[in-house]
Amino acid sequence: MQTKIPVGILGATGIVGQRFVQMLEHHPWFEVAWLAASDRSEGRAYGEAARWRLKTAIPDKVSKMQVSPATPASAPKVIFAALDASIAAELEPKFAEAGCAVVSNSSALRMAPDVPLVIPEVNAGHVRLIETQAWRKKSGGYVVTNPNCSAIGLVLALAPLDRTFGLDILGNVVPYIAKEEEKMEEETQKLLGQLNGSHVEPGAFKMSAQCNRVAVEDGHTESVSIRLKKKGSSVEILEAWRSFTAEPQQLRLPSAPDQPVVYLEAPDRPQPRFDVDRGAGMTTTVGRLRPCKVLDWKFTVLSHNTIRGAAGAALLNAEYLKAKGYLG
Ligand SMILES: NC(=O)c1ccc[n+]([C@@H]2O[C@H](COP(=O)([O-])OP(=O)(O)OC[C@H]3O[C@@H](n4cnc5c(N)ncnc54)[C@H](OP(=O)(O)O)[C@@H]3O)[C@@H](O)[C@H]2O)c1
Repeated sequence: MQTKIPVGILGATGIVGQRFVQMLEHHPWFEVAWLAASDRSEGRAYGEAARWRLKTAIPDKVSKMQVSPATPASAPKVIFAALDASIAAELEPKFAEAGCAVVSNSSALRMAPDVPLVIPEVNAGHVRLIETQAWRKKSGGYVVTNPNCSAIGLVLALAPLDRTFGLDILGNVVPYIAKEEEKMEEETQKLLGQLNGSHVEPGAFKMSAQCNRVAVEDGHTESVSIRLKKKGSSVEILEAWRSFTAEPQQLRLPSAPDQPVVYLEAPDRPQPRFDVDRGAGMTTTVGRLRPCKVLDWKFTVLSHNTIRGAAGAALLNAEYLKAKGYLG
């Protein structure tokens, strides 16, 4: 039997940290070997330190593990990071410096020119930026990030359209969460941009985002309006979504959904309550495609914020890195 790769979770007691614990419980390649959080949790059993919020039971083995200090000294070489941005900005470079592959969820380093911001179905090739990082050259360590939880669903729905028709201008109608709108705009341009040696040329389209927080347990819903460079019919747009697959599906990565984007015909879908768990939370669900009188088309996008938008996104990045030989 193949030995699993030991992995650690930074910020393991938080909401996203718990998702990592849940998604790694039966993972075929990775095994949780180390958990770290703040001083508040250090030294305590994980089951006591974490206020477990998920619907599945806390895994027995992990529940008994002791929470380690958040330093690289005793950490494994693969680290999933689920820290607040200000703490991530301090800790993630320390782990990369110490030779760890840091697969991060946080916004701290996402826009750094040499840090790949990756959705493997969309811009897997951007992982090559790893080779330009000073940590990589010095210790072998590096940082790879996944996008903000709102940008990820949006970009999964836009990527097939960008490939087939090209994006001209897109405007997204969704109202205020601090820095959320800025992240959606700049991250979408980096994700749909072109790798150019040691940096990514941002996608050449304009974007305007508005974000509102609403009382939903899980799931980010986005109302999107777009203009396409090459005009397409609704049939062609639906076909671009339906046929969209990429390397994660071809490589059969364990967390890759069979279909990254699913379109629902019913006029009142997608809805978080019924659609958020599609593809084990990794599929983006789209609905309500209709002509837009200002731009070209409008539609609704739904994706799971802590699975496809956080832990699942990082896990798929790590699976892709392993498949490409970046995890040793
Ligand atoms: N929640 C979401 O829907 C969502 C979705 C996508 C991305 N994200 C991003 O994921 C990251 C984590 O979010 P979250 O909602 O999981 O946050 P959270 O629930 O507040 O958890 C934060 C984690 O960081 C740990 N921590 C705090 N201060 C620390 C320190 N000085 N050193 C080491 N660890 C420390 C906490 O440990 P203690 O328990 O010991 O305090 C906890 O484990 C953020 O960057 C967030 O933007 C969140």
